[in-house]
Amino acid sequence: MSQRVLLDTDPGIDDALAILLAVASPELDVRAVTVTGGNCPLSAGVANARAVLALAKHQHIPVCAGVALPLLRPAFTAAETHGASGLGYAVLPPSDAPEAREHGVDCIIREILAAPGQLSLVPVAPLTNIAIALRKEPTIVDAVKNVIIMGGAVRVDGNTTSLAEFNFFVDPHAAHIVLTSGMPITLVPWDITRDVMLHQKHIDRLLAIDSPLTQFIADATRFYLDFHYASFGIAGCSINDPVALALTMWPDLATTQSVRVDIEYTSELTIGKTVLSYVGETSHPPRDTDMTGFAATEWPATWRSMTRPPHNVQLVTHFDSETFIERFVQRMEALARMIPA
Ligand code: BDR
Ligand code: CA
Repeated sequence: MSQRVLLDTDPGIDDALAILLAVASPELDVRAVTVTGGNCPLSAGVANARAVLALAKHQHIPVCAGVALPLLRPAFTAAETHGASGLGYAVLPPSDAPEAREHGVDCIIREILAAPGQLSLVPVAPLTNIAIALRKEPTIVDAVKNVIIMGGAVRVDGNTTSLAEFNFFVDPHAAHIVLTSGMPITLVPWDITRDVMLHQKHIDRLLAIDSPLTQFIADATRFYLDFHYASFGIAGCSINDPVALALTMWPDLATTQSVRVDIEYTSELTIGKTVLSYVGETSHPPRDTDMTGFAATEWPATWRSMTRPPHNVQLVTHFDSETFIERFVQRMEALARMIPA
């Protein structure tokens, strides 16, 4: 039986790649794509998700518009990362599929409750839709199978402010609600996903297949590659969001650790910062580990143990990027062959 999945997105170049990986994966039953404001405004994100699904010949999957703005903070978009439209240099024809009438938040609640213990929720955007869903229908906490979130920067500085990663920076209040909800959460932070990179050689390999799908991936990622080179001097682009989606079907690619993660949401200077607390059983870890209980060589020793808050997430600490990228490219090749020029 295939795994039920709902993707909550803000498409977004890497969101689009997550959508494509989802529909290219026979292991998955993609129930819906929901959208919130993030990389681009809500209306653009909905149009992008619909256009990407139409490109992939999966326009039957509903795209439900959710909440446009963060709970308390003003909108914050990322045109310099994803382009004015959200899809880089790609220009896709609009989908002619009928528009879904259901609100994104209601779609999330309905899909979770329709199959208790069976739906993997994969938020790869600011967590606004998920937070509102939790407030509207708290019983989803016990009914969702798991929640695999792309967000936060745990061991590294942020990609949006010095301390904060984009998804958690845009709506830190929503992130707080979700992280403290009691849902079974796996957190894939930016410190993992930033090293999961597509390179020009992968794009060239895809372009060997003459398909509007490979052309889309090339046009979208060309913008993303330019951004990474201009910003970081890196010849490659991080495909963050597909990593979270991948864990619904390939959990073995990741090593996880049960930990406590909170988010700073009151201080303007540090808002959106993910804070990892001590996870060991004693208040003072052995000398060769830091306060988190991880090997001191791997983790900065800046966290404190005395309050011992309960664990709330499975944090991804290692990920087999090489295997994943190969599988990702293979899935895109297989999908492209079904969509010839
Ligand atoms: C996250 O921010 C967005 O720009 C990407 O789509 C991804 O979800 C990475 O920090
Ligand atoms: Ca995203």
